[in-house]
Amino acid sequence: MTFEQELEKRTQEVQETIYGYLPKETGCQKTILEAMNYSMTAGGKRLRPLLMRETYRMLGGEGTLVEPFMAAIEMIHTHSLIHDDLPAMDNDEYRRGRKTTHVVYGEAMAILAGDGLLNLAYETASRGFAMAPGDTRVGSALATLAAKTGVYGMMGGQAVDVESVGEPLDRERLHFIYRLKTGALIEASMMIGAILAGAVGEDILRIGQVAADVGLAFQIQDDILDVTGTQQILGKPINSDEKNHKTTYVTIEGLEKARADVEQISRRAIHTLDGMTGEKEFLRELILSLISRKK
Ligand code: IPE
Ligand code: IPE
Ligand code: MG
Ligand code: MG
Ligand code: MG
Repeated sequence: MTFEQELEKRTQEVQETIYGYLPKETGCQKTILEAMNYSMTAGGKRLRPLLMRETYRMLGGEGTLVEPFMAAIEMIHTHSLIHDDLPAMDNDEYRRGRKTTHVVYGEAMAILAGDGLLNLAYETASRGFAMAPGDTRVGSALATLAAKTGVYGMMGGQAVDVESVGEPLDRERLHFIYRLKTGALIEASMMIGAILAGAVGEDILRIGQVAADVGLAFQIQDDILDVTGTQQILGKPINSDEKNHKTTYVTIEGLEKARADVEQISRRAIHTLDGMTGEKEFLRELILSLISRKK
């Protein structure tokens, strides 16, 4: 099997796991449940739960304890996308190849659907307690999930991002935004995989470093694709950053340097990963493939 075939197979498995945790669209609150599932089932690369599962396996994790956390991280990520696209934020009308949630369900329902997914993520991850009673790994994973999502993680990055619209940004502040708005959820993904696999101390820190680099390279590539991609392949509008007067890695450094940095930062991630024990061939290939991703 080629890496691409293997990636497709594993992404499909991850998606099936996630689908098993989606809510049934019944009851008086049927509309919000539909709106939540609308974006969750629209596709997407499923990169975060995939990174979580692969890290778990690499570090010797077995069984299903990681599964509710895989669903939870994708719910939080999808929540962040629904809110990121709102008129008050990036005001974008396409996501994952479909009209955005607020265009289809209206703004109020999109806000609530985002909130609904955020909360359902914690309800879902909490199932880990019943799966492994008395196991401290579950509480530790849950704490990491919460910390990386909140104001010291993704939400903090989004807040500084919207606050910086139209302002010239220095490299340090841009780096801060990227480390939080995008890096934090990728760090959560890999660190939770490591924690649930039973890793401790140094190994969790190293995985956090790998993930921070993967996250930074991922956001720079996202900026590049906003300028060089196509809506058809990306499933979301291009030139969103320019429309919103955003200073990005590309506007500061130029395309060529941005591309070179994606490669260099990704190779640094692989180098850190290489210093760890465990079967890591698929993770290595996955990180390498992100350097030239088109969506
Ligand atoms: C988009 O994330 C938001 C960013 C952090 C750049 P993805 O590119 O992973 O989006 P999906 O999940 O594949 O739709
Ligand atoms: C979004 O950054 C990061 C989060 C959603 C947390 P962008 O605003 O660049 O993401 P896209 O390009 O809309 O996917
Ligand atoms: Mg944004
Ligand atoms: Mg956006
Ligand atoms: Mg973007």
